[in-house]
Amino acid sequence: MAMIAKQCPDIPVHVVDVNASRIAQWNSRELPVYEPGLQEVVEEARGRNLTFSTDVDGAIRDANLIFISVNTPTKTFGVGAGRAANLEFVEKCARRIAECSTGHKVVVEKSTLPVRTAEAVARILASSATNATFDVLSNPEFLAEGTAIQDLLNPDRVLIGGESPRAVEQLVAVYSRWIPREKILTTNVWSSELSKLTANAFLAQRVSSINAISALCEATGADVDEVARAIGFDSRIGPKFLKASVGFGGSCFQKDILNLVYLCEHFGLSEVAKYWEQVVVMNDYQKRRFSARIVRTMFHTVSDKQIAIWGFAFKKDTNDIRESAAIAVCRDLLEERARLVIYDPRVSEQQIRDALEGIFKDATGVLSDRHRQLVREHVTIAPDAYAAAAQTHAIAVLTEWDEFRRLDMGRVLAGMQRPAFVFDGRNILDVARLTSLGFEVHSIGRP
Ligand code: UDX
Repeated sequence: MAMIAKQCPDIPVHVVDVNASRIAQWNSRELPVYEPGLQEVVEEARGRNLTFSTDVDGAIRDANLIFISVNTPTKTFGVGAGRAANLEFVEKCARRIAECSTGHKVVVEKSTLPVRTAEAVARILASSATNATFDVLSNPEFLAEGTAIQDLLNPDRVLIGGESPRAVEQLVAVYSRWIPREKILTTNVWSSELSKLTANAFLAQRVSSINAISALCEATGADVDEVARAIGFDSRIGPKFLKASVGFGGSCFQKDILNLVYLCEHFGLSEVAKYWEQVVVMNDYQKRRFSARIVRTMFHTVSDKQIAIWGFAFKKDTNDIRESAAIAVCRDLLEERARLVIYDPRVSEQQIRDALEGIFKDATGVLSDRHRQLVREHVTIAPDAYAAAAQTHAIAVLTEWDEFRRLDMGRVLAGMQRPAFVFDGRNILDVARLTSLGFEVHSIGRP
């Protein structure tokens, strides 16, 4: 919305939320999310044609176009728990819009939703007690975190699904202010909804595919980065999204695939469901394989050993830790009674502690005293990468932050125990250099 406000100074954009503290953050200098370039975009438009407030009803009344951009997390309870998307917040938005609207409104689904949700939203809107009328469009977002501003300024495509040509044209008119018309694709609503899930499933599948090959590389003596480069030269395959890693994370990939799996099962397509579910199974395997390799390499025990964790975010240039591979790896190492010293340039101590306590909670959300104590006594947060590595037996690189490539590794080694192990879960460190310095380096997909 900030980008629309920036690119279209004559269009007033009102961002509203029921969460007052969240809105206060958006109105302050400390935005609630870290995203390179976002601060500048918000500051350019805020107070001009971009406002943040809790006046939800007023904003609905004034608007021609209303974007529903609430979260749709995986359900944790009831039918479809662990797979289906929780549509509670979307439905609440639709009901509120139905209550507050007059005249004609175009309602745009920006949240990622299961196929045929637009139909449900349209039915709720149609039951409005007022005499308002509505069109519903699907307009999924394809930006990636860390590169969001560039992705929004220069997207590969914008996708708009809708039945009413007039409503579709209204939204096309907004995006075409800065995006070439041929990159704005229009489809029916269901194709648009399904395309979002499919795009994320294909991207995640590529990561799981190269990670599957990384296991084979480690067993055979091939080098996964060389294999990725060799296959990436094939123009049909292409070079992007072939970086082997400790596993994908983020708020979208796993959630959207599980959602897709649930949808397939719902329609009785169990082979299709199993096919896509394997992408998530492989990702879990990759994370477990990484922590198991640490334990195995360190003489089959990490109990009471100090291990530095470099990076906690699910990728660089974000403070987002949702589904981060770091959480799973830290859980496994804590189960083995390792002492973790964690450093991430953007993630706060509170975020890290909450995530680690969260992963040990049982199905009813209860954290046992044993696990609370484990996290309290075995996890330390360090102010920088050097401090994190001091006195440790090993370093595990879990996020590919650029600053980890620029460290004085001689200085790092001087403070460590011997043998000094490095487990590079992102293949960003120079193995030959580190080895010559005296480290024992283990990376992903290399023998
Ligand atoms: C993703 C999609 O890219 C985006 O189009 C969609 O709108 C939202 O979901 P995001 O989750 O922000 O975006 O980041 P992305 O760059 O896709 O990375 C996802 C995860 O995969 C990260 O943990 C990343 O480290 C990992 N990854 C990505 C790899 O391990 N290897 C790769 O080659 C690429």
